[in-house]
Amino acid sequence: MTGAQTLGNIGFIGAGAMASTLAIAMHRRGYAVRAVASRTEASAERLAAGIPGCDPLSPQAVADRSDTVFLTVPDDAIAHVAATLRWRNNQFVIHCSGALDIDVLSPAARSGAQTGGLHPLQTFTAGVDPEASLRGIAYAVEAYSPLRESLEALATALGGWLLPLDSTDRAVYHASAIAACGLVATLLKQAGDLWRGIPGLDGNGMRALLPLTRSTLDNIERQGLPDALTGPAARGDVGVVRMHLDALGERAPGFLPLYAALSLALLPIARDKGTLAGPQEAQLRELLTASLTESRTEGAPCA
Ligand SMILES: NC(=O)c1ccc[n+]([C@@H]2O[C@H](COP(=O)([O-])OP(=O)(O)OC[C@H]3O[C@@H](n4cnc5c(N)ncnc54)[C@H](OP(=O)(O)O)[C@@H]3O)[C@@H](O)[C@H]2O)c1
Repeated sequence: MTGAQTLGNIGFIGAGAMASTLAIAMHRRGYAVRAVASRTEASAERLAAGIPGCDPLSPQAVADRSDTVFLTVPDDAIAHVAATLRWRNNQFVIHCSGALDIDVLSPAARSGAQTGGLHPLQTFTAGVDPEASLRGIAYAVEAYSPLRESLEALATALGGWLLPLDSTDRAVYHASAIAACGLVATLLKQAGDLWRGIPGLDGNGMRALLPLTRSTLDNIERQGLPDALTGPAARGDVGVVRMHLDALGERAPGFLPLYAALSLALLPIARDKGTLAGPQEAQLRELLTASLTESRTEGAPCA
């Protein structure tokens, strides 16, 4: 039996960003995606329209018709959906959350279903090509055999690779994913916002800064860290860092603690690179710690 056959007829409940990527990619690889439901009919109809042989149905009808059901609803809705639908013996019920383990699906397990978690370590937004976003990504799979093997085969069929993740490590794993994704986006937004009010620069922040971020990511991928690290703190340019702290204290006090905390975290990376001498590192540490303590004492909002 192929990996696709082991999952049988497949349904999705929740037709948002995750389902739109996964359902279409699975269909293209021969998986039988046959039914989709969502909170609104419009979302289910939109996703079903892109997959030949897939019908928009009610959530219970998806559960009744499918051998395998992906609950691709927001994390906070998974337990509720799992608890309110009727499941059957040996049906596969899977969620895609990075933060939650399979206990959230225990109502389905109590009805005899086999439950699993398949977390693609990627960010999905509407309208992005599924193939591009799934290429080469890691998957954390949690399930017992035989569902485990089916989900591992699915991850491999989608061009991904597997992470052995114990459920006790999930929260830290997911926090790390958020740091590498949403927090990077937040940092970029704040960096762009620093241009506000600067004549000629105001409004151009994101457009001008993005190539810099892209090169940073490319260099990290190509050279790794610490080699790809650059900047005044990495070089030990204490005077430049002092200028930054003074300017931010005056014009963007809300951003100052974040700048100081991240700069402190950068120092060991610079030390490992070998570009930061001991005395400069000590001066920077003192300067940045003082700035961080001062801004905390003053209660500057970090926004
Ligand atoms: N997006 C990502 O980057 C990403 C990455 C990895 C894992 N995940 C995981 O994938 C899952 C889905 O996330 P998402 O980003 O796809 O969320 P999303 O874009 O917000 O989509 C959620 C979908 O669920 C539907 N929905 C909400 N409550 C429902 C309910 N009670 N019953 C039926 N449908 C309901 C929504 O309905 P309507 O559209 O009809 O209103 C929407 O279509 C989550 O577990 C998330 O952690 C997401």
